[in-house]
Amino acid sequence: MKTRAILILICFAVFAASTTLAIVNKGAEEITLDGGKKGKVEFPHHEHQEALEQKCKTCHDLFPQEPGIINDLKKKGTLKKKQVMNEKCLECHKTRKKAGKDAGPVKCKGCHIK
Ligand code: HEC
Ligand code: HEC
Ligand code: HEC
Repeated sequence: MKTRAILILICFAVFAASTTLAIVNKGAEEITLDGGKKGKVEFPHHEHQEALEQKCKTCHDLFPQEPGIINDLKKKGTLKKKQVMNEKCLECHKTRKKAGKDAGPVKCKGCHIK
């Protein structure tokens, strides 16, 4: 009887773990970011998650997984203006472009739309 109880517990643990994985909140598929005077920036969020093999921290080490958080942190002064753009978006696109890999835009108008 003891082994049976243990088996049931293991099954339950595996089930719980798999549902936890399945309900990870990946956020919106497409996000419009505030690009200030230069104009808004359309950011394909899920496309990035796939291209970057689901490594969320590539970006979310700099800001948490919350809608509108970049603007909130810029207002608080925790993030500088253009910090995400320079340290994340452009840094990665430029490095990958140089390495001959798939990359996103590096020119202003490639991202900012008026
Ligand atoms: C290439 C950068 C990047 C990667 C990688 C990334 N995100 Fe995001 N994520 C963003 C940006 C930018 C925002 C918008 C923040 C804002 O609105 O100020 C965001 C917002 C979110 C939000 C807030 C809800 C929403 O829809 O705005 C959630 C949840 C989220 N991300 C989850 C994830 C998860 C889970 C992963 C990994 C599977 C991930 N993100 C990978 C850039 C990224
Ligand atoms: C890869 C996409 C991308 C490219 C290319 C890009 N930007 Fe940005 N830019 C962003 C994002 C995302 C933000 C908002 C987050 C931030 O401020 O870091 C932003 C914000 C800005 C802001 C507003 C800062 C503020 O808070 O007032 C200005 C101004 C700006 N960019 C100018 C430029 C100029 C000029 C160029 C070309 C030299 C450029 N950007 C190229 C993505 C980009
Ligand atoms: C760590 C690397 C990395 C970071 C950080 C990153 N990108 Fe990208 N981006 C990519 C790659 C790789 C592609 C090409 C994806 C593909 O072709 O599927 C791309 C493509 C794009 C495209 C073009 C999408 C299309 O369908 O043509 C845009 C726009 C873009 N990125 C904007 C941004 C913005 C805005 C940020 C910052 C909030 C950002 N990226 C941060 C790697 C990155």
